[in-house]
Amino acid sequence: MDTLTSKEKKTVRDTFPINGTDFIEFYVGNAKQSALFYQAAFGFKLVAYKGPETGSKETVSYVLEQGKIRLVLTSAYEPDHEILKHVQLHGDGVKVLALWVEDAREAHEKAVERGAKSAFEPYTMSDDNGEVVLSGIHTYGETIHTFVERKNYSGTFMPGFQPKESLRKVEPVGLKYVDHCVGNVELGDMNRWIKFYQEVLGFKLLITFDDKDISTKYTALMSKVVSSGNGYIKFPINEPAKGLKKSQIEEYLDFYKSAGVQHIAVSTDDIIKTVGQLRKNGVEFLYVPDNYYEDLLDRVGDIDESIEDLKSQNILVDRDDEGYLLQIFTKPVQDRPTLFYEIIQRKGAQSFGKGNFKALFEAIEREQELRGTL
Ligand code: FE2
Repeated sequence: MDTLTSKEKKTVRDTFPINGTDFIEFYVGNAKQSALFYQAAFGFKLVAYKGPETGSKETVSYVLEQGKIRLVLTSAYEPDHEILKHVQLHGDGVKVLALWVEDAREAHEKAVERGAKSAFEPYTMSDDNGEVVLSGIHTYGETIHTFVERKNYSGTFMPGFQPKESLRKVEPVGLKYVDHCVGNVELGDMNRWIKFYQEVLGFKLLITFDDKDISTKYTALMSKVVSSGNGYIKFPINEPAKGLKKSQIEEYLDFYKSAGVQHIAVSTDDIIKTVGQLRKNGVEFLYVPDNYYEDLLDRVGDIDESIEDLKSQNILVDRDDEGYLLQIFTKPVQDRPTLFYEIIQRKGAQSFGKGNFKALFEAIEREQELRGTL
């Protein structure tokens, strides 16, 4: 495993400035019901809406927020609409990882010049609150990156949307921001996409995990993590590795029918409370057996949280040179075993929980076994 030191990270020049994740857009079969799921289960607040009542005759979108996280749930009416074709092929899933930039025209021009395939040319949308400029490029599978320029906009989300409030009282669960978004790609494609992020978006290689780092008795995968110049965006990319049984990455690819977003990690300042609330709301998590906690303190040293609290919520801990982190994975959030969420609390550690990979992947294997896909 190779890691950049904090000093090296600071001296790297940022050739493609990105302010952060602007939104994550899902193409779904039923946006109205998905919107209620994210409100009731994950504590997101509904803030904006676009549909026939607002002049959008073909598509419908709900915008939800919690902390700095913004999700857009989009569906369509006609069966031959590209959104519903996407849903038919992939199931509900992430279509857009939108990146907030200062200049969406320049970002698009630069990315295409450096080898990106354009998804759509820059265009401006305006209303009484100003204007938003959007442009897009393709990344792995059918996923795209939309560049969002919103410095001249003061309205809710973007032109075309109307503010809309939740009908139910939403209790936030303490989710703050997107920590990282992970992509699964086909065997042999990981390095190509890592190179894409390095060459096109000026990302730096942060960490490499090989199949010795990430394997259980049965399955294995390989992973590399790239990060934007300022470190705000982190994209791990996984590919399957050869094991005795079917890797969880292969299972994903079989069900998603292409490369795509595997998990979104969202941060909290109080993971015990956040996970407790999510469980009450009906969110299902992977199960790691109690013996994980028997020698936990020997492995991670002193931590602020009580082992009993961690055990009761089944939260995992890992330490690196800079501190420790707490994490847990949900089960997939749609029928297909594709997208899931990670809840993460960082206490200094900037890594990804390498010490927990084995326990987590064994937990995923148990789920695969139940599905008959191991
Ligand atoms: Fe993760």
